[in-house]
Amino acid sequence: MTQNEGAAQDELKEALPTGTHISPGIERIQEINREALAHPNEFWSKVAGDLYFSERVGPAFERIEDAPYGRWFSQWKTNLSYNCLDRWIGTDHQHRVAFHWEGEPGDQRSLTYLDLYREVNRFASILRDLGVKEGDRVTVYMPMIPEAVFAMMATVRLGAIHSVVFGGFTAQALADRINDSKSKVVVTADGGWRRGKIVELKKIVDQAVLQTPEVQKVLVVRRTGQPVDMDEDRDLWYHDAVKSAADYVAPVMVPGTHPSYILYTSGTTGKPKGACHSTAGYMVWLYYSTHAVFDITPRDLYWCTADIGWVTGHSYIIYGPTLRGATSFMYEGAADFPAWDRWWDMIQRHRVSILYTSPTAIRGFIKQGEKWPEKHDLSSLRIIGSVGEPINPEAWQWYYRHIGANRCTIVDTWWQTETGGILIAPQPGVAKYPLKPGSATFPLAGVKAVVVDDHGNPCPKGEKGFMTIQHPWPGQFMTLWGDHARYKQVYFSRFPGIYYAADFSMQDQDGYFWLLGRADEVMKVAGHRISTTEIEDALIMHPAVAESAVIGRKDEIKMEVPVACVILKPGFAPTPQLREELLVHVRNTMGPIAVPAQIYFVEKVPKTRSAKIMRRLIRDVVEERPLGDVTTLEDETSIEEAKRAYNELKADIDRART
Ligand code: WTA
Repeated sequence: MTQNEGAAQDELKEALPTGTHISPGIERIQEINREALAHPNEFWSKVAGDLYFSERVGPAFERIEDAPYGRWFSQWKTNLSYNCLDRWIGTDHQHRVAFHWEGEPGDQRSLTYLDLYREVNRFASILRDLGVKEGDRVTVYMPMIPEAVFAMMATVRLGAIHSVVFGGFTAQALADRINDSKSKVVVTADGGWRRGKIVELKKIVDQAVLQTPEVQKVLVVRRTGQPVDMDEDRDLWYHDAVKSAADYVAPVMVPGTHPSYILYTSGTTGKPKGACHSTAGYMVWLYYSTHAVFDITPRDLYWCTADIGWVTGHSYIIYGPTLRGATSFMYEGAADFPAWDRWWDMIQRHRVSILYTSPTAIRGFIKQGEKWPEKHDLSSLRIIGSVGEPINPEAWQWYYRHIGANRCTIVDTWWQTETGGILIAPQPGVAKYPLKPGSATFPLAGVKAVVVDDHGNPCPKGEKGFMTIQHPWPGQFMTLWGDHARYKQVYFSRFPGIYYAADFSMQDQDGYFWLLGRADEVMKVAGHRISTTEIEDALIMHPAVAESAVIGRKDEIKMEVPVACVILKPGFAPTPQLREELLVHVRNTMGPIAVPAQIYFVEKVPKTRSAKIMRRLIRDVVEERPLGDVTTLEDETSIEEAKRAYNELKADIDRART
């Protein structure tokens, strides 16, 4: 920079109240972003240079006809578990703790990298003896215990593919996911602890496998110790099998594009989609983003509070931190057990320095009051993160003040199951710059985030539109399991050839990105991703239900909760008992996270002329607002028709409310 340019910048700085445009930190972030976009091969090959590959042939990135966003490291060979574990063995690092774990009842366990390496090898040996080979699928249905980490890493060590199913899902949801992935082995535990009670995981697996002909073996970890049924031919205890397990299993070196895992997530239609991630691109993205966003140093103790059943657990509990050789904390149970200061107590006792959690959790704590965190010394914290939903500025401020003591950096991280890792977030590991409460700030290296209008044209600054990513990035998912056509259709056809994230977004005058919630029929209920159609499909399976429409209603803590409008079949009366029965029915088919907060029995569900449910209109009625803008109701449904539908539904719901 010349002296004149410097002076000009100083002048500009004075002219701008926030000064954010010209923060050197922002310039640095943008420069790296541009560099990675201009030279993706060089940039990402260099990042991959820190990691182990048994072969490095061909370019880092190639465009491929059938893959809208090309392929990363397709001819390179590596193993994800090797890079998380073996890379540290034989170095000083092997004696560093990888995980300090605490169970809900208070039991504790610490595993060094060497311990973890041993356990993962033994676990891989058991899976191999059960017949698991490269490319096979293994379903993992586990509580938050170290064995869940072993199971996942052991699976990828063998070149097999894991499909982790969140422990809150029911037998039916589990069976559907096992069948879709055609897993031949299921790993589970007798149970897990949640608010002092046992979640009976093995029992749920027993019900699920009645419907899954391909499952040959169920491996059971003893956690809670309550009696469980064991099928002699099918089930085996981990603590028995491990006695004869080998201490070393050679990691299978797989091509960069070999799938590492499938993770089912909700989309617009009722059937969950199996997002399928690569090995090398995914690994390189986590290696990079974990450093950029969390800036983990050898002095840090890092804690991501997510569940391993969601992508945040995969990327930022299991793989990202171990690729960086970090020391993590991991916790099994509920935040309010035995009291609302459980987290703050653990942060104080273990001296956690980086905390990564969700806005829903933060709002839950706000409701309980400052008295809980105030009882504890949280001075070890230096970076505090947020993920899963937009963080409202009030929650951001509370988090900043009462958890971060007005000095911690808040990293609000925007990403999705499909993106593999964080795409937009503050990056204290790279550069510092002013934050704005509620904004995820700027894209990471090589992320070409563009907010576009309905026609795909970039929106002017300050205008809300759709988030798109207009250049491939290494962490991108490769396909939807068993449905490549759907992959192309859902993500790359709305704006031909570019990635459609299905989120609303806005870039402000200073260039900061604001993520404004889903633009499709997906809800975020306490950070869990659930589609409205999935719940409608569950309701319609009940013999009394003729039709239903589900929407997400605003909620103070969970952000959204499902609310259902139900039309009954002739002969069924809208009684409180039937309502209760329907709630239980949804709980049994999908799990507690999908249960509607309210069911309204109605005469009619408002639809457009092309029979699309007018969800926005329903939301207006349910949230007791006047009818909003109807000019964008997709097809030519007239304002008159919309008004009539609004009034009819309102009359129905008013009647139901009284
Ligand atoms: C939402 C979770 C605003 C968004 C990692 C996205 C966010 C969906 C943020 C993906 C954030 C996630 N700000 N919204 N920082 N992080 N979202 O697949 O709507 O469970 O599309 O992945 O969560 O949810 P998923």
